[in-house]
Amino acid sequence: MTAHADARTEARTGPPAGARTGARAARGISPNLALDQLVAERQARGERITHLGFGESRLPVFPPLAERLAEGASRNAYGPVAGGPGVRAAAAGYFTRRGLETDPAQVIVAPGSKALLLALQLVEPGDVFLPAPCWVTYQPQATLAGKRAFGVPVPEHCGGVPDPGALRTAVRAARAEGHHPRLVVLTLPDNPTGTLAPPETVREVCAVAEEEDLLVVSDEIYRDILHESAPPFLSPAEVVPERTVVVTGLSKSLALGGWRIGVARFPAGPAGERMCGDVASVASEMWSTLAGPMQAVAEYAFAEPPELLERLRRDARLHGAVAGAVHDIVVAAGAACRPPTGGFYVYPDFGPVRERLARKGVVDGESLQNHLIEELGIAVLAGVHFGDARDALRFRAATSMLYGRTPDEQRAAQEADRPLELPHIAGALAAIERGFTALTAG
Ligand SMILES: Cc1ncc(COP(=O)(O)O)c(C=O)c1O
Repeated sequence: MTAHADARTEARTGPPAGARTGARAARGISPNLALDQLVAERQARGERITHLGFGESRLPVFPPLAERLAEGASRNAYGPVAGGPGVRAAAAGYFTRRGLETDPAQVIVAPGSKALLLALQLVEPGDVFLPAPCWVTYQPQATLAGKRAFGVPVPEHCGGVPDPGALRTAVRAARAEGHHPRLVVLTLPDNPTGTLAPPETVREVCAVAEEEDLLVVSDEIYRDILHESAPPFLSPAEVVPERTVVVTGLSKSLALGGWRIGVARFPAGPAGERMCGDVASVASEMWSTLAGPMQAVAEYAFAEPPELLERLRRDARLHGAVAGAVHDIVVAAGAACRPPTGGFYVYPDFGPVRERLARKGVVDGESLQNHLIEELGIAVLAGVHFGDARDALRFRAATSMLYGRTPDEQRAAQEADRPLELPHIAGALAAIERGFTALTAG
């Protein structure tokens, strides 16, 4: 059985016990959030840990966003569940500028895209197909929604999408076993692999979705963080518009994770209207509406004035430079790793040096994660947490945590033409290089 076949079994039955232990108790908090808390506690006790374990862009708030937040403080009424007319029109404009003609009635804003993704899983009956590996939360959300989640291996050249042929096979096999395939989730660009699926692969997955009558959930939260090396971006909503829901937010591109701003775009037409109404119904019972001041922020951000686009462009360049540098370090240490093309992650595979690692007691994802933090002071999240095989020597490193400890250092990183040469970034990269060299040293 291949590693990915293991992953498929794991995703179907829920992650193995090991995936829930360590930083996470049974039904504990999500492993990435748990690891972040653990690292923060250990750092507060004086431990030196290079933190690559949390998917957050550690950059300061863009000042105009803070101004909009302050101005929005007087918005203390609940307002409409799906968001006020201003923010919905701005979000519709955001999508329309990306080639997806959108009416404001097709969008819902919410406190984070995570909430919208769960609401979607709650309202859409049937089982869900996920890329393996994929973001930690899709599978637990499927479980919360009473669904089966099937992990399907990603292709060799990119993550974020199930391999199209394997998806077709998995859907048919699941149907033959009496399951009810209905949803497929794509992450463009991807967390955890930091890669963007090229247009031809997106088209192939969409063709399978059409053949097998699946709804595509396209998680595009990293869409505005494309590296120079990225292939052209193609949204499934351009290919199969009537069966694609796009979900995105401001947590990653604008480093606003703690402000909780997400948006979903539903297909035009009666089926999309029904889904949009159902998600609004869940919203009305769960979070009521996006907080008024955050709607003021989102209205400004989704309108994308020139100064904001410039900030996005510079940040994307920073993310690309640092992710590229970490990629080169892990490859030099002996890992196989797809070159990152979007977002701020790398997903190395230390399988090629398995024997050397085994001599140090590192035999699977969990022991690799533990060895890195306990012996080498590097925090990462093992592949098993992303639905990968338990014995895979893979992990996700979030490179967006390396921009500096203080807002001044982070601002310097954003403004530098050559961020890798800044002493604090060069120092962090040198520490990582020492760690991974020691990991794989004979
Ligand atoms: C792929 C992906 N989707 C969605 C989210 C959720 O983001 P938020 O709820 O902050 O919008 C994250 C955050 O880590 C993510 O990596």
